[in-house]
Order: sequence, then structure tokens, then C-alpha cells
Amino acid sequence: MGVIFTSLERTLAAGVVVLVVIVLAVGAATGKMVSIDHAWSLFCMRWLHIMSGVMWIGLLWYLNFVQVPTMPKIQPVESRTAITKFIAPNVLFWFRYGALATVVTGALLAWMNGYIVQALMLKSPFTPIGVGMWMALIMAFNVWFIIWPKQQQILGLVEATAEQKAKAGPIALYASRFNTMFSIGMLYCMAAQSHGGF
Ligand code: HEM
Repeated sequence: MGVIFTSLERTLAAGVVVLVVIVLAVGAATGKMVSIDHAWSLFCMRWLHIMSGVMWIGLLWYLNFVQVPTMPKIQPVESRTAITKFIAPNVLFWFRYGALATVVTGALLAWMNGYIVQALMLKSPFTPIGVGMWMALIMAFNVWFIIWPKQQQILGLVEATAEQKAKAGPIALYASRFNTMFSIGMLYCMAAQSHGGF
């Protein structure tokens, strides 16, 4: 076990092996082996979309549920630099590329499903996913064009005056809280298109 779990790369590779075993075992049990066709590639895109969505929203919720409420409790104040110098930049890297990957896989999924334009125009019967897509697009815009630039100032990754840093704090926080607020309805719409909900 130590051979695998001492490395993230080997842990992820082991996850793929587990998946292959599951696909083969379930295929053998049900007599339905995966066939590499359009339906399967569509399914794979859905799976990649959910994985990148979990990466993004997981980190959004980590920031809002764990990091932000805990920061003021960390004493002495100087020890907070462990978070701001090491944890936060790394979180923000996976956070913003998770957001980008979710948008790309989501758009590809809608395109492969053949309804990207109708959904974005909120036309029936694709209104639920269209609303979800617009909410997630606004959230992704916030990540890349509000939260990330402001966090770069706050964390000292770019030059900023003390005044700019003080202003950046509440803007980044409110944009992040806005995304947390939107994540609830957005996820409802995502799942609702194919599984009832409206
Ligand atoms: C702009 C960004 C996004 C776009 C364009 C998008 C697009 C889509 C599309 C087209 C579907 C398929 C709906 C269907 O016909 O069943 C879908 C489903 C889904 N999406 Fe997104 N999405 C986005 C963001 C997100 C985010 C941030 C999450 C967070 C986890 C997410 C999670 C899901 C889930 C869980 C499903 C349901 C899969 C299923 O029911 O099989 N999506 N999305």
C-alpha cells in the first residue's frame, strides 16, 4: 500500500486501474461490455465534466466552508502565512483550472448532445440546463476575472499598494460567496435536465 499511497501520481494511476477492474467486472456480471461508440464517448465526456466540476466546486466549498472561517482563529497571526504563502496559491491553481476544465467539458457535452445553442437561448426543453450553464458561466467569469486577480494582489503574487490590497479583500470574498450562493441552484439545474427536477 505504501508503494501507492506515498505518491499522488501513483494514487491516481491506481484509481484508473480500479476503474478498469470495475468496468470489466460489471460488464462480466451484466453481460454488457463497454462498446467504444458515440454513446460511450458522450458518457466519458459527462464523466470528465463531473470530475472537473467536483475539483472546482470542491475547492470553492473548501475555501468557503473551511479556509475563510478558520483563518481568523489561527494564532499567532504570523503563522497564517503558511496558508497565504503555500496552501492558497496551490488551491487557487487547481480551483481556476478546474473551473476552466468544467466549462470546456460542459460546452463539449452540450455540443455533443446537439443542444448547445438552444440551451444557451434557454429554449424549451433545454431551459433547465441552459439556466445551469449560464449560472456556471457567470461563476467561471468570477473565478478568472474577479477572484483570481484580486487574490493575486492579496497574496502578494503581483505588485499592489496597501490600499489596493485592502480593497481587494472584500471584493474577492464577496465574489467567492456569490459563487457559493449560485452553486446550490446551478447544481440543481445541472442534474435536473436528465433526471426530473422541473
Ligand atoms: C459553464 C459551465 C458548465 C456547462 C457548460 C455545463 C454543461 C452541462 C451539460 C450540457 C450537462 C448535461 C445535461 C444533460 O443533458 O443531462 C451537464 C450535466 C451536469 N453537470 Fe454541468 N456544466 C457546467 C458546469 C458544471 C459545474 C460547475 C458542475 C459542478 C459539479 C457541473 C456538474 C454537472 C452534473 C453533476 C451534471 C449531471 C450529469 C448527469 O446527470 O448525468 N456542471 N452540464
